[in-house]
Amino acid sequence: SLPNKVTIIEVGPRDGLQNEKNEVPTEVKLEFIEKLQIAGVKEMELSSFVSPKWVPQMKDAKVIVESVSKVGRQFVLTPNEKGVELAKQAGVNSFAIFVGVSDSFNKKNINKTTRESMHELKPIVERLLKDGHFVRACISTSFYCPYEGAIDPSKTIEICREFVSWGVNELSVADTIGMANPKESYLLFDAIKKEFPNTLITAHFHDTRKMGLANIFAALQAGVDRFDSSVGGLGGCPFAPGATGNVATEDVVNMLHQMNIETGIDLELLLQAVNSVAPYVSRPIETGMYKLFKSK
Ligand code: HMG
Ligand code: MG
Repeated sequence: SLPNKVTIIEVGPRDGLQNEKNEVPTEVKLEFIEKLQIAGVKEMELSSFVSPKWVPQMKDAKVIVESVSKVGRQFVLTPNEKGVELAKQAGVNSFAIFVGVSDSFNKKNINKTTRESMHELKPIVERLLKDGHFVRACISTSFYCPYEGAIDPSKTIEICREFVSWGVNELSVADTIGMANPKESYLLFDAIKKEFPNTLITAHFHDTRKMGLANIFAALQAGVDRFDSSVGGLGGCPFAPGATGNVATEDVVNMLHQMNIETGIDLELLLQAVNSVAPYVSRPIETGMYKLFKSK
């Protein structure tokens, strides 16, 4: 049976803009985030404290985080100790750490093997949790890797198991390059929900092959009630060639509302948030609900 209520974790300001060709002005990002919060988004990834050489789009993380409301869960991505320290100084209390199941992807993304990353992250996560922070673990290439192809689900589950043994609050399991199909989505999330009943489980789909909504529906049937999505279908990891944007929040919210599943988000106000950033991004926004909004 389907849940009555779903939580959307808006990743537009982070995943959506990290791969953007244009430099989106900080003030535009701030207005975008504020409009998303006004629309009812309670959990969001605001930015990342990563190397500005690697991802210049996120170099204004400190100003962003210091300027916006941190009611609800307002996450930042942190790859290492340095990122965590900078984020703490900016007043962050919800941290997203990230690792790829595939070694080749993890090397391209954070210059370490998966094992090296897990080794580095363990004491960082344990201290964050001890200090009372919320930790979400984002797991990339959970289904397919742009360099290694299909990933054995047992390898993804093994990484989940390790994070859960450290006590992380949430697992965000990602289809980085948008290659999973609904059958694979159902099978992996069914296994994960059954094995980790006491951890928040979130599904993160990219929509490269337009299977994002179908994958969400499959994950809903496996009991998942948390989804990462990005308004406007913006997004993509700069180190995952061939990946396009995340599944679009406005289309996800519309699908859920049509099925009488609550999200707490006002679709009209959400579309106004999309509209505020649309002129500043390098590609046209062509999601179903945004096109309808523009044609009114
Ligand atoms: P490195 O070059 O191996 O490490 O990068 P380093 O320690 O030599 O650092 C290089 C420079 O960056 C140094 O500066 C550091 O101080 C600085 P320099 O001395 O050359 O002037 N530095 C930092 N600056 C600010 N904040 C930091 C930080 N750390 C080092 N935290 C590193 C290693 C991890 C830093 C680099 O590879 C990196 O920043 N990678 C980030 C990659 C990224 O952001 N990817 C996208 C997010 S993940 C994603 O999109 C997937 C997801 O959506 C799920 C899915 O869809 O799969 C979550
Ligand atoms: Mg992503």
